[in-house]
This record gives sequence, C-alpha cells and structure tokens, in this order.
Amino acid sequence: MSPSVRVGIVGTGWVGSSVAISTLHAGVAHELLLHDVLAELAEGEAMDLAHGAAFYPAATVRSASLDDIQTCDAVVIAAGRGGRSGESRLDLLKDNAHVVGGIAGRFRDYPGLVIVVTNPVDALTYHFAATSGLPHERVMGTGTILDTARLRQMIGRALDVAPQSIHAHVIGEHGDSEVVLWSSARVAGVPLRQWLGWTDELERQLAHNVRVAAYEIIRRKGATNHAIGLVTATLLRTLLRGENRVLTVSRVQDGTPELADVALSLPAVVGARGALEVVTPGLSSEERGQLERSAAVLREAIRSLP
Ligand SMILES: NC(=O)c1ccc[n+]([C@@H]2O[C@H](COP(=O)([O-])OP(=O)(O)OC[C@H]3O[C@@H](n4cnc5c(N)ncnc54)[C@H](O)[C@@H]3O)[C@@H](O)[C@H]2O)c1
Repeated sequence: MSPSVRVGIVGTGWVGSSVAISTLHAGVAHELLLHDVLAELAEGEAMDLAHGAAFYPAATVRSASLDDIQTCDAVVIAAGRGGRSGESRLDLLKDNAHVVGGIAGRFRDYPGLVIVVTNPVDALTYHFAATSGLPHERVMGTGTILDTARLRQMIGRALDVAPQSIHAHVIGEHGDSEVVLWSSARVAGVPLRQWLGWTDELERQLAHNVRVAAYEIIRRKGATNHAIGLVTATLLRTLLRGENRVLTVSRVQDGTPELADVALSLPAVVGARGALEVVTPGLSSEERGQLERSAAVLREAIRSLP
C-alpha cells in the first residue's frame, strides 16, 4: 500500500455510510473523503465517523467536493436511489443512469480505480465506463460479490460449515437473471452435489433465497447496507493492497467476444491495476444457457441507456 492511501465515497446514504465504516475498520484508507449532493449529509457523516477515530486504524475523515474526490486512489460510487418494495433493480435504471452518468462525465481524466455500487450495478458499470472512457479494468461494479457472499453464508448454514470454507460462485447479472454455478461448487474439494444429504430441492431453495435476499431485506427495513459495506471494503482492500484475490466483480467483458457489449460478473483476479484478468469458469451446458440469457437481459437494459 502506498504511504498515504486516499479513498473517496460519492453518495453517503445507507450504502455509502456503511461502506465508510467498513472501510475504516478494514484499515485500508489513511484518508477517507465523502461527497454527497446533499453537502450537509456528507459533512455530518464525516464528523460522526471521525469521532470514532480512537477505535479504528489511524485515518482521517472529511467531506469533499467532487473535484477533490478525484485525488483519491479509489472512488466508490454509491449515489442514486435504492429500490422500493416491489421494484426490481432494473426498474432503477432511468433515475440512476442520470446520476451516475453525470458523475462519470467528470471522471474522464481520473487516474485511479472506480467501484460502482449503485443499482442496477451492471448496466451502470457499463454506463460509467462508456461515459468516462476509462479503461474497462479500472471501472468495476461490486456485481455478484454480494450474491456470492450470500450464497456461501446460506450453504454454510445448511451444511454447518463456515462460509469461508465454501467455494461457490454466482455470476452474470446482480439481479433476477443471476446464475449460481452449482456444477463447480465445492467444500474441501468435494463437489456439493455429492455432499451427504444434498438435494435438488435444497439447491433450488438456496438459489431462490439468494435471488430474493435484497427484496426480503428491503421489505423489512427499507434498504440493504451492511453486507454491501463489507463487500465494498473487501474489494477496496483487494485493490489497494494488490492482493490478486479472485472476486466476481462486474466489468465490461471485452476479453470475451460474445459478452463484449455488456458488463456482468465473472470471476476475475483483482489487484492493484483493477480487474485485469477475467477467469472463464467451467460451466455446465445449463449454466452456459443461463449466462447467455443473463447477458441478453443486460444487453437490453444497456441499449435503453440515455
Ligand atoms: N450493488 C449492490 O450490491 C447494492 C447493494 C445495496 C444497495 N445498492 C444500491 O446503492 C445505491 C444507494 O443506495 P442507498 O440505500 O444508500 O440510497 P440512499 O438514498 O440512502 O443514498 C443515496 C445517496 O446518493 C445521494 N446522491 C444522489 N444523487 C447524487 C449525486 N448526483 N451526487 C452525489 N450524491 C448523490 C443522495 O443524496 C443520497 O444521500 C442504490 O442504487 C442501491 O440500489 C447496491
């Protein structure tokens, strides 16, 4: 990590503030800069977070202009509204494309790394990359890292095994057309489908629970924030410490000709230069079909971008 690492967060609502506290606890930033179109909200969050400085690794927190934010090594985009009960992520596209496109237009000369969190995250990752013109490996969406984390937690609970020991991925859209890679899911090298007591019904139930997780949380508390905060802080740490972890980030998939016109999640080696190396996972023919359908859904959403 370079001597003084600066992280910026644009949008300090439910998600931005959770990203902020998780980032501070993770000790990945020496300086945290917060920006919101509601300047006082960013100021209040910065003051509140700064007052906790005795309890996290040394860091300063302050509010900042959008120009100032561009001095950061990495910037998280969490600006824009969240889903309401009954809305899918793609329903947010029109409103949030306007917000994210406006910010991206200011980032044309930005030399750092961008993490898009705002939903629908895949279409908006594409939109940010296209509008800013930044290299695709430097514009990443959190994509299905959250869905993958949910899947590992839910499988872990079903098997009574820690989620850290579950190797399973969700790819494609962060949304209704996401794809769970059951054919390659393993625990200690044992295919999940050979695990004692594993059933097709359990598989269907877990895939459903992962897919509707955000809707179930939004119905109860109005937003999701803690898990995405932890996901984003982990992605920041992976980038800023050059850890080369494999994460299912979303990015424009220009290394895969049939997916070149969409952004979606595939496992990628994530390090100091971004999501440079995308790994093509082994897919069953059913999973391949599902991924193609997910790409088609996103292609259509991207076509409707302003
Ligand atoms: N990718 C994921 O896995 C994931 C998970 C959870 C939420 N989200 C998404 O994150 C986004 C934020 O959710 P939230 O619950 O924090 O919403 P929120 O309404 O609480 O906060 C959004 C903030 O963005 C600010 N904002 C709006 N336009 C802005 C602009 N042009 N510049 C700067 N700030 C601006 C608002 O003032 C507000 O404070 C939503 O789109 C939500 O769907 C994504």
